[in-house]
Amino acid sequence: SKPETITINNKTYQTDNWFNVSSTVLSLTSRKLHLQKDHPVQITRQIIESVFPNPTYKIYNEFDPVVSTHENFDSLGFPPDHPGRAKTDTYYINSSTLLRTHTSAHEAQLFRDSASPGYLISADVYRRDEVDRSHYPVFHQMEGARVWDRTKVPNGDLISAIKKDLELLPKHYMQVEDPNPPFHEERNPLQSHHTAEEATLVGQHLKRSLELMVNEIFTHVKKAAGAESEEPLKVRWVEAYFPFTSPSWELEVWYQNEWLEVLGCGVSQQQILIDAGVSNQICWAFGIGLERIAMLLFRIPDIRLFWSQDERFLGQFRGVSDDLRKLKPFVPFSIHPACWKDVAFWIGEQEIHENDVMEVVRDVCGDVVEDVKLKDQFTHPKTGRKSMAYRINYRSLERTLTNRETNRFHEDMTNELTRRLGVEIR
Ligand code: PHE
Repeated sequence: SKPETITINNKTYQTDNWFNVSSTVLSLTSRKLHLQKDHPVQITRQIIESVFPNPTYKIYNEFDPVVSTHENFDSLGFPPDHPGRAKTDTYYINSSTLLRTHTSAHEAQLFRDSASPGYLISADVYRRDEVDRSHYPVFHQMEGARVWDRTKVPNGDLISAIKKDLELLPKHYMQVEDPNPPFHEERNPLQSHHTAEEATLVGQHLKRSLELMVNEIFTHVKKAAGAESEEPLKVRWVEAYFPFTSPSWELEVWYQNEWLEVLGCGVSQQQILIDAGVSNQICWAFGIGLERIAMLLFRIPDIRLFWSQDERFLGQFRGVSDDLRKLKPFVPFSIHPACWKDVAFWIGEQEIHENDVMEVVRDVCGDVVEDVKLKDQFTHPKTGRKSMAYRINYRSLERTLTNRETNRFHEDMTNELTRRLGVEIR
């Protein structure tokens, strides 16, 4: 039943037995919420872009979501057996073509064609994942990077050039916890291509730039919430790991009494720059999820809302893009009743991954499912067969579902589980 070819944004691709993109997800490739004026994802992008000066940072918002496995994984140093490559986690069009799982897929290309010392890319990204109020198979990320070229800085003096750029960054009054050394031999190593002083300075420029960004975002978050407190924002740096940066960090913000992870970043692996033919450059990069930030900015309680075409949703943000003073929290429209139903089944010959169950639910029921949870699982002591039970929570954001409708969704979904995953309903 798999199509032989599929067309995304006017380009046609040949599928093969790796193809696993559902029709729901395919239909979302044309939405580009980050480009839709007055959409909360677009407004969030605009706020973040405003922190990075033009023309130092060039903006790219139109990259196609279809990329090669090379661009998404190999070019960034992902090992061949990295779990992110699995069919259960990633949407493949064919064995060498996929829907990008992150904006980093465009790094190598931009380093190669670099038209400016820095860039920002916003785009839709795709991941197979669980079903709940903060996960959706399509979301938006922004990637940023800043490059220095040893051969192009005045007098070939890289250190002075980065120091000067550091001094040019505006000051901020946040409280920053950064107990980590600039790099750490085992946990967060310095690359052999960089001197300790170079990596330290690039790391400082990276951290100051992103602190300024987070400060700007949370100024809007607090203003929108009407919080008068003059307390400075509190953030902390945590060591992290990404295959394409070293050293690497995550930035967390103290918000509503907990540490909230907002972005990942680091000093780019020199091999990526070498492969791109720009071995003279040294670079930092970061990636941030836009829905996550938009949910805070507008107090949007459910990630499905971003895809709503309902005027009661979209109407609340009109005019904000041109005048950020109009930014205010989203007022949820009436909450419709939820209705849960369970489905229990024996697993057949075929191994199944939880994300496959999630995908069937999304495909058949679309956005009327709020979440899916594993309720129970056991192995029959005599036959050795494995049974699983899931609880599906049906609730539309836009209307009250009738009993008949919910039963129908549940029945169709159950049939599809049998058909696609070879399970036996109990
Ligand atoms: N691409 C990473 C992610 O999706 C984020 C990242 C970007 C980390 C750039 C480091 C540098 O999680």
